[in-house]
Amino acid sequence: MGKHNFVTIADLSREKILYLIKSAQEFEAHPNREILKGKVVATLFFEPSTRTRLSFETAANRLGARVIGFTDAKVTSATKGETLKDTILMVSNYADVIVMRHYIEGAAQYASEVAPVPIINAGDGAHQHPSQCMLDLYSIYKTQGTLSNLNICLVGDLKYGRTVHSLIMAMRHFNPTFHFIAPKELAMPDEYKLYCRDNGIKYIEHTEFTEETINQADILYMTRVQKERFSDLMEYEKVKNVYILKNDMLTNARDNMRILHPLPRVNEIEYDVDENPHAYYIQQAQNGLYAREAIICDVLGITYDEIVKDKTI
Ligand code: CP
Repeated sequence: MGKHNFVTIADLSREKILYLIKSAQEFEAHPNREILKGKVVATLFFEPSTRTRLSFETAANRLGARVIGFTDAKVTSATKGETLKDTILMVSNYADVIVMRHYIEGAAQYASEVAPVPIINAGDGAHQHPSQCMLDLYSIYKTQGTLSNLNICLVGDLKYGRTVHSLIMAMRHFNPTFHFIAPKELAMPDEYKLYCRDNGIKYIEHTEFTEETINQADILYMTRVQKERFSDLMEYEKVKNVYILKNDMLTNARDNMRILHPLPRVNEIEYDVDENPHAYYIQQAQNGLYAREAIICDVLGITYDEIVKDKTI
């Protein structure tokens, strides 16, 4: 497959997901290569980020590419009224691939329709975060040895959390059972529950975060309540500390159970959980580097054989 976009996880087949995991494994074994020597990767971040931007930029650097971009749209001509279309067309003049995070749902899809170079969606509003999803899948595969037939608890802000929306869609190929654990104000939106029903994905909804549910989990996927998506901060104050994971809740967890979190965390995992053998969120973020090396190569049409053949530096 030649150059293409990476905008929504819904586009990815089972085979493509497994292929990207295989590529990520190869990059984890040998992260430093020159396969993108002479290429330029643009990172356009209209919303704040630590992990996504820095891991994409590290991935580009480790692959031999150079990086341009911005971390704050206020320093760009968007403040003078330049449209997203014109911004994308301009950056396409300079870069071979564009990684973009935007606060508007659908912005990445729109950019992909106007750009002559591949677009990678680094998060669009509360909609999708497909590269995070690939690193989540890689982390699940690494810790469980499979993606199939797993019990996955999604906890916290299931309304605005774009990572959980992407994960549901990706897991449709692998017969999961989901537990959606959220207060009613932050419940999984109907469109994703409908998606589960249409795709034969089993799910159970909970408003209580109990040890009984944790004890059934292979993956406990914690999320932050997304303050920036609330129009009424009083509503945020009501739910911001609704679920807090503590060490003593993990006593009877399955041995294989791993705690994931896309990060940043605010208050939903106590710091002493970090030392618990079930905690995996720091390694999960590291896996983002390898998954993103795989994604950048894939959108540029670089094959696995070319990756393997490339001289490791
Ligand atoms: N997980 C994630 O998207 O983190 P950042 O917002 O720091 O990129």
